[in-house]
Amino acid sequence: MSVIPSTAFARKAILRSLGDLPPLPAVANKVLAESEKPDASPSKLEAILQADPAIAAKALRVVNSAYYGLPGNVSSLNQACVLLGVMQIRNIVLGMSAVSAISKTQFDKGGLSKFWLHSFATAHATHLIGVNKKIRALDLDVLFVGGLLHDIGKLFLFANFPEFYNEVLTSWAEDRRPLYLVEREILGVTHDQIGGEICRIWNLPNALCGLIESHEGPFTLESEVLCFPLHIGDEITKYLYERDEYPYSPLIDPVAAEWLNFESGQMKQLIDEVQHKVESMKGVVSQLAA
Ligand SMILES: [Fe+2]
Ligand SMILES: [Fe+2]
Repeated sequence: MSVIPSTAFARKAILRSLGDLPPLPAVANKVLAESEKPDASPSKLEAILQADPAIAAKALRVVNSAYYGLPGNVSSLNQACVLLGVMQIRNIVLGMSAVSAISKTQFDKGGLSKFWLHSFATAHATHLIGVNKKIRALDLDVLFVGGLLHDIGKLFLFANFPEFYNEVLTSWAEDRRPLYLVEREILGVTHDQIGGEICRIWNLPNALCGLIESHEGPFTLESEVLCFPLHIGDEITKYLYERDEYPYSPLIDPVAAEWLNFESGQMKQLIDEVQHKVESMKGVVSQLAA
């Protein structure tokens, strides 16, 4: 029988453990800096990535997956940058780097595959919503990478406090309350707060930190609008792949739902598109977890 920790104890232990957070791989910081230069080029990005062959190889696997549907085999990151753009490669590298830093502690492969599937599905759903709501291109990139990294706090909790976090998930599975309420009750802190804190420790862009730390809600009329597509994309993905209740009603925050203003037909179309895309990722996620 597991012992549920006191909330104060759990919170203290979790916050303290952030002091031992592994650094983001150096290659991620360099790619991030390069991508923000007006003259960022595919060859410079490729040269940076040569310093970390493991991350470069994983990024190439993603580029060659059915998710992107590129014709033929893309054999170099230079070519990948030309085909998908520097920002898209930056997003993938950032996602791979963050997860490899956190999952250096022991982590089971099945769980990591599931994490990647959820992350890519959320990134895709979030991006689709952003396009539908005519969000500007620069913010669409932030949304996509936000989708990839949004649950980095959950990964951290799983990797470092598996017993605490399994208590959260068991309790969450028993009712339909938002996850953040269960986390506050058991851990005294939420995975999105932890994720935001991790991103700040890693000096990731402020917009990205803000998105990640607020993606679960709740929202008010003053909330940052960019958080809504990520929240909705995440909720759709959760209910598609974690609750087994399809067709379902995702637990979307009312303020975000009002902003989205989708009719049921539009929502169904969005869900179908996400599901279709996720099928195309199933082959590659187990390789990413290897
Ligand atoms: Fe989350
Ligand atoms: Fe999520």
